[in-house]
Amino acid sequence: MYILGIESSCDETAVAVVERGVVNAVRSEAIKSQVELHAPFGGIVPEIAARTHYEAIDRLCRQALHQAGLGIGDIEVLAVTLGPGLVGSLLIGLAFAKGLAMAHELPLVAVDHIAAHIEAPFISHNHIAYPLLALVVSGGHTSLFFQESKFCGRMVAKTRDDAAGEVMDKVAKHFGLGYPGGPLLDNLFDKGDAGRFRFTRPRMSDGGDDFSFSGYKSALLRQARELDVVAGSKDFYDLLASFLGSLVDYLLDKTLAAAVSLKVRSLIVSGGVSRNTLLRRRFADACAARGLPLYLPEPRYCTDNAAMIAWLGYEKYAAFPNMNYYDLYLNSYSRSSFRESKRHR
Ligand code: KG4
Ligand code: ZN
Repeated sequence: MYILGIESSCDETAVAVVERGVVNAVRSEAIKSQVELHAPFGGIVPEIAARTHYEAIDRLCRQALHQAGLGIGDIEVLAVTLGPGLVGSLLIGLAFAKGLAMAHELPLVAVDHIAAHIEAPFISHNHIAYPLLALVVSGGHTSLFFQESKFCGRMVAKTRDDAAGEVMDKVAKHFGLGYPGGPLLDNLFDKGDAGRFRFTRPRMSDGGDDFSFSGYKSALLRQARELDVVAGSKDFYDLLASFLGSLVDYLLDKTLAAAVSLKVRSLIVSGGVSRNTLLRRRFADACAARGLPLYLPEPRYCTDNAAMIAWLGYEKYAAFPNMNYYDLYLNSYSRSSFRESKRHR
């Protein structure tokens, strides 16, 4: 069965064709990154994002089908990101998918973007045992999810301010390094002494388990001001390496504590920041030492992509065959649909 997935929640327009039931199931991927368009602004400009999705989506869909050696008549299921994300961006993908579904009488499966990030490691790992804990860490999200099964999960912690990737993007912007900041800090890490500066860990005044990252950014900027740090100096590299090391350790310790208290059988880390070299190494070492199976997506499925949308679309279609997949009144949502309680999605 061939599934065509469409993703347009943020600044990547992506279309992928997945064939289920075979090895190497991702048949094609066409992606247009908008990084260069948003880089001069140091962050995503929603209007530019939506317009670029609109200009690219038709071509990318044709490209993905062509690369897979297929025509639209070969596709049996469409999957599209419904939310969360930038609503103008989401609506471009959704409107396009609805048009395809209507014209070709195809079932249209609505997929939650965060749930798809959690699904991404399944593309390369068949048997991930439940219950599992998933850390989704990106430019828009830093949350922990407890999944009893594929379609039954709850959020157990979230960031109360910035997301981890967002903080890296802001820090890189402050030093004029470019956008997105995460990959830039990743490349700089080995140039600095990560043990030189200490960052105090945030504590929730109500004793909650949530994350907070804005204090890390303020502490870094304060240190940079006090030491008069200029880009390219030893202080600069040490400060950025210490900052990244502290962020990763904070994510790791909180995730492991939740994994222990929830007695999970597997750990997933996904989202754009899960591409980070240091994060992948520290999580791998810590999980190996504790005998906790860790599953990371392949690097290209960490950041936003359409293969994870098609993948979860198929799983949902197969698991809930009686749902109405012909509902053209589907509407996008900008905020997470996960609640801090059990629910099916
Ligand atoms: O998942 P994603 O593509 O989009 C969102 O849903 O946000 O994640 C983008 C985020 C950006 O903040 C970017 O700086 C971060 O992922 N990122 C990284 C790396 N690659 C991307 N952060 C740290 N290290 C990386 N190698
Ligand atoms: Zn994402």
